Amino acid sequence: MPAPPTRERPDHTLSGLAAAVLDAVPVSLYVVDRDLRVAFWNRQREKGVQGHPRGTVLGKALSDVLPPGAYRASAALMRQVLATGQAQDETRETIGDRLFHVRRLPVRSGRQVTHVLCWSEDVTDARALEMRVIATDRLAFLGQLVAGVAHEISNPLAGIAGCVEALASLASQSREPAVRREADEFRSLVRQEVARCERLLRTLLDSARPSPGRTASLPDVVGGVLRLLERHPAFARVKVASRLGPRLPPAQVDPDSLRQVVLALAVNAARAMPEGGTLTLRARARARRVQLEVLDTGPGVAPLLRRQIFKPYFTTDPAQGTGLGLAIARSLVQARGGDLVYVPRARGACFRVTLQAAARK
Ligand SMILES: Nc1ncnc2c1ncn2[C@@H]1O[C@H](COP(=O)(O)OP(=O)(O)OP(=O)(O)O)[C@@H](O)[C@H]1O
Ligand SMILES: [Mg+2]
Repeated sequence: MPAPPTRERPDHTLSGLAAAVLDAVPVSLYVVDRDLRVAFWNRQREKGVQGHPRGTVLGKALSDVLPPGAYRASAALMRQVLATGQAQDETRETIGDRLFHVRRLPVRSGRQVTHVLCWSEDVTDARALEMRVIATDRLAFLGQLVAGVAHEISNPLAGIAGCVEALASLASQSREPAVRREADEFRSLVRQEVARCERLLRTLLDSARPSPGRTASLPDVVGGVLRLLERHPAFARVKVASRLGPRLPPAQVDPDSLRQVVLALAVNAARAMPEGGTLTLRARARARRVQLEVLDTGPGVAPLLRRQIFKPYFTTDPAQGTGLGLAIARSLVQARGGDLVYVPRARGACFRVTLQAAARK
């Protein structure tokens, strides 16, 4: 009779190369077994406030390694991974003054989940960059709001000034010298105050108005934005291709505004491709215009949403966005006689910015 097949014990030891690879990853990671004992601890995990030398933690219960609060939160998620075999989605956790994206992933031997891998990525710097990008958006919007209010107020102000002149001229027909004197005093007081308001409004409008006559070089702006986004977390899995046609004339727009528009479109594209994809920026000259297209390989915008996406505060991702990006970008471009539209494609999204071409210097 043939001997019954022997049940092989799964090999859970890491080979030297595998351990060296995990040590080389610029991410803190460790592995626990089903009893939540530490089976692997990489070199990166030795650093920081919760770091320990590898030799002191291997084989130990995780409860003896992590601070109690961190252990409770982590153990609950790890037990879920062991029970369900499903990865626990990314959570944001603060350790000391650093912010981490943490994932807990099942490690399988055959069908059984034998270990859990805890993967923590330090996103503090990337997050700070993201916040700066968002703050730039908000400031620009505030500027537009102020300009809008200033513009609207100047009309009723002119009306008020006119009415006061009329009242004063009626009063000047009075027989009473005291009434005439008082009317004159009030008229000059109102004139002074209206002039002061007008000066204030002009200052506000001048500071919000784009500097006319300024032009932007597309390669410079696109290059600058791409450099800024190199370390943006949303771009970690995104391949960027830029295809800028030859002899592109400068565009009639100030570089800061164009930069903001390209940034908003690129961040949107990256957010639409969380699993990775390709972002393409391409530009060409057309008649007296320049066209810049931002394309991605994400799901695109559903037909029903295409009319909504340019409205202020419309977002399908309220956790990350406020829905102002496209609204601001479109109004910036339109203020310079250009346009920003969504161009439907068979696959992925395409946003097209059209601007007037400026004469070459
Ligand atoms: N490249 C894209 N692919 C798919 N959908 C997109 C893309 N760009 C924008 N959208 C859709 O348009 C909506 C509005 O975009 P918008 O940039 O105005 O706001 P947001 O990105 O959600 O938030 P914010 O830019 O204020 O942070 C998004 O929520 C998304 O649904
Ligand atoms: Mg956006």
